[in-house]
Amino acid sequence: MSNYHVKNLEEYFQVYRKSVRDPETFWGEIAEENFLWRKPWDTVLEYNFEKPEITWYKGAKLNITENCIDRHLYARGEKTAIIFEPNDPKEKAEHISYNQLHDRVCRFANVLKENGIKKGDRVCIYLPMIPELAISLLACARIGAIHSVVFAGFSAKAISTRINDCDCKMVITSDGSFRGSKTIDLKGIVDDALESCDGIETVLVVKRIHSEITMVEGRDRWLQPLLDEASNMCQPEIMDAEDPLFILYTSGSTGQPKGMVHSTAGYMVYTAYTFKNVFQYREDDVYWCTADIGWITGHSYIVYGPLANGATTVLFEGVPAYPDWGRFWEVVEKHKVNQFYTAPTAIRALAKERLDFSEKHDLSSLKILGTVGEPINEEAWHWYNDTIGKKKCPIVDTWWQTETGGIMISPIPFSTPTIPTFATLPLPGIQPTLMDEVGEELSGNMVSGRLCIKFPWPSMARTIWGNHKRFKETYFSAYKDMYFTGDGALRNSTGYYRITGRVDDVIIVSGHNLGTAPIEDSINEHPAVSESAIVGFPHDVKGSALYGYVILKETGETRNHDNLRKEINQIITEHIGPIAKLDKIQFTSGLPKTRSGKIMRRILRKIAEKDASNLGDTSTLLNPEVVQEIMDNAL
Ligand code: WTA
Repeated sequence: MSNYHVKNLEEYFQVYRKSVRDPETFWGEIAEENFLWRKPWDTVLEYNFEKPEITWYKGAKLNITENCIDRHLYARGEKTAIIFEPNDPKEKAEHISYNQLHDRVCRFANVLKENGIKKGDRVCIYLPMIPELAISLLACARIGAIHSVVFAGFSAKAISTRINDCDCKMVITSDGSFRGSKTIDLKGIVDDALESCDGIETVLVVKRIHSEITMVEGRDRWLQPLLDEASNMCQPEIMDAEDPLFILYTSGSTGQPKGMVHSTAGYMVYTAYTFKNVFQYREDDVYWCTADIGWITGHSYIVYGPLANGATTVLFEGVPAYPDWGRFWEVVEKHKVNQFYTAPTAIRALAKERLDFSEKHDLSSLKILGTVGEPINEEAWHWYNDTIGKKKCPIVDTWWQTETGGIMISPIPFSTPTIPTFATLPLPGIQPTLMDEVGEELSGNMVSGRLCIKFPWPSMARTIWGNHKRFKETYFSAYKDMYFTGDGALRNSTGYYRITGRVDDVIIVSGHNLGTAPIEDSINEHPAVSESAIVGFPHDVKGSALYGYVILKETGETRNHDNLRKEINQIITEHIGPIAKLDKIQFTSGLPKTRSGKIMRRILRKIAEKDASNLGDTSTLLNPEVVQEIMDNAL
């Protein structure tokens, strides 16, 4: 039996029990047997959830890129590490071997150094899904710089907030990006963002779409000539196990996005371990995760987890509908993809299209199908299972979060029997539990409550950049000695978990987490708006979509409501990005509030969900009369 690679259900239970009985031996052995360390650790785990302070592999020294690249060169130097599949199917795919990846990461790392980046500096990366994106993460990690990737769909304001929050010194971007039949002016967006960022000394620009852009003298530099001149040798910076590897922002229910800080050793061990097991990766498999590297799924399961296992990982620049809805299946056929990992929102969108888009492609290479990001509904699950997997490919419904760094609850394919909509069982080392609202742990099965984790795991986020207090309050204060996920879940009679959705004011739209507060703040900046409230409502492709209730300043506002709706969505696009646009905007004279002035979102949610028959107790409202008005005008 190998703790590292679990191959059947009996083994899973044995390994799981060991991981709970003696976590330190368990994670110590996995780390020792499967990775390259420059110095071993003094202790495997020290933790205190009160503070909270979590330390894995204390005293150990390593570099994650040595583990993801250098150590594979002897046996797998010519093996393909990354297959780059461009947006345009007519452009040739690029196969980057481990040797070439080493060369390119080292050159890039040297360019970072020559441009003043040192260990511990923060580098903002705002790039489309091109090889330079993965390479820039690794180049930062090579020299110990902390990368902060901002998804290249975010607006200038969203970028500048993130750059300023963690004081980045450099931005890496491109002249633009291809997205289906469109191009996006990424460099222009960065230029706008940098008008309110003082700390940026250098902008490195990748040439991708060959558009005319402005280069700011003394600040902006084309990347390619610098790479051409740089040495292809760069000694890895030797890092402490707990040195931060990256920052990645995620929405909270209130306030600014939270810069989740992930550290080096624990993150590496856990993402590699879970990649190997959840996707049952074997040496010659081709693995494809369709997420963007701008999200945690891409960090952990396009870049670090696969490369730490010496895998071949597909990096896809395009979108599922370009040039038509058959693109995913064309790519699967072309590269003989064995493991395919995507989001329920993509599955639902694909399932709506004609069958021949999938039928005309040979999907027989597929062995395992994965989903992540939001609950998968039963219909989508069956479509995925029948039409794509031909009932032969286990579906891994993987539950996890930006904060958890890696997959937490998921079937192990060919071992764990699956049930649609259930993420099933915790992975080894993960100790989930359900809590009720008054802080009691719910024992036994057939219960539902708030999902918490009782014990540390190696890849958990260590803090929120610059705000440890918020880290403690958000995740470790709801329940004593537990990490609170913010999700609700139920446990069935066999102990399987089903994630039911957020229990806070985060709404998941097409798999993207959106906090209501920042959207409301941006709407309120419209000169005609006095107040607003956002809730989610069910949407057949996006999972949830956004419904906004907006109070206008002057009564008898004469402006055309449709124009106002457009303007409001325009402001949201500028402040956050198009992903946060509202599907429905209802103008109202008031919002239901408690006597202490809190908006009763529960009522707004019910109305948006067209489930207003049972609004519950409204007697505590300050203004119960407004409820009827909102119901009468509901969209
Ligand atoms: C939700 C994505 C149901 C959940 C890796 C979580 C899921 C949030 C699943 C984190 C799943 C993720 N089933 N819900 N399999 N996976 N979620 O930070 O609400 O972008 O808290 O990380 O997505 O989203 P994040």
